Amino acid sequence: MKLRTKDLLGIADLTREEIVAILDQGRTFIEVLDRAIPMVPALRGKTIVNLFFEPSTRTATSFGLAAKRLSADSVGFSLSTSAVSKGETLLDTARNIEAMKVDGVVIRHSMAGAPHFLARRLKAFVVNAGDGRHEHPTQALLDAFTIRETLGRIDGLKILILGDIANSRVARSDILAFTKLGARVYLCAPPTLLPSDAEALGCEVFYRLDHVLNEVNVVNVLRLQLERQGRGLFPTQREYHQLYGLTRERVAKARKDLVVMHPGPMNRGVEIDAEVADSAQSVILNQVRNGVAVRMAVLYMLAGGEVDPKA
Ligand code: CP
Repeated sequence: MKLRTKDLLGIADLTREEIVAILDQGRTFIEVLDRAIPMVPALRGKTIVNLFFEPSTRTATSFGLAAKRLSADSVGFSLSTSAVSKGETLLDTARNIEAMKVDGVVIRHSMAGAPHFLARRLKAFVVNAGDGRHEHPTQALLDAFTIRETLGRIDGLKILILGDIANSRVARSDILAFTKLGARVYLCAPPTLLPSDAEALGCEVFYRLDHVLNEVNVVNVLRLQLERQGRGLFPTQREYHQLYGLTRERVAKARKDLVVMHPGPMNRGVEIDAEVADSAQSVILNQVRNGVAVRMAVLYMLAGGEVDPKA
């Protein structure tokens, strides 16, 4: 199945059926990744450029690996190694990319809407790898994939997103993906870290973690994004940990089969205790592994691979 749109800019643009098709395609690629030689010729001859104007460990590496596993040529540049650091504009960057005739562009940028700007100007497909506080669609897809792999379904589950939701593009994409897939989404954070449209997004809001944690099947813990907050939105990290940290004691009082997630990078001892992050209930490293397969699925479906991807 090919997606209806040329680009993947946000979960908001995807139908439930398209999300399920990406997750199903990702499942076939998990099997490829388990092979002795984890490669398929699905995108041989295609070229994908990774433009990361913000730091990334997981997303940048897994998009690079996903392209290689599909036999595409993958080229990357970052803010510090590109001419953007000499003042080149995003529009000129786009024109140069167009001149090099690449097939796809993966972009992360601090400005919400930067991927949309490129997508309107390029014939190449564009994937949003995180734009400002707006969306991080492939993170939501790999989160949904991981929940479905762990619990067998998403429909009817109660999923809690905990932490710095107002500043999180992951939260926005997760809310859209989980609700489209039939989950009930709960948000918990101090009032200063909640978006003003939380209820309009179809979520139930809690200010006290102990009022909601024992209700839910899954908790997705978010990092305090101090680089985006700009001013103190809570008294101290120690107080934040006491009120909102996912501690061993809190997890011990929750459902025995509670699934613990975190998109990374983690601040151990702030939003999540190290013992919880490394526990048997944590699927945090599964999220990272699944990210490669899900990003393979996205690249494959956007590039319109013409051969059996499992061949
Ligand atoms: N989850 C996530 O986007 O991690 P990176 O910033 O390392 O890509």
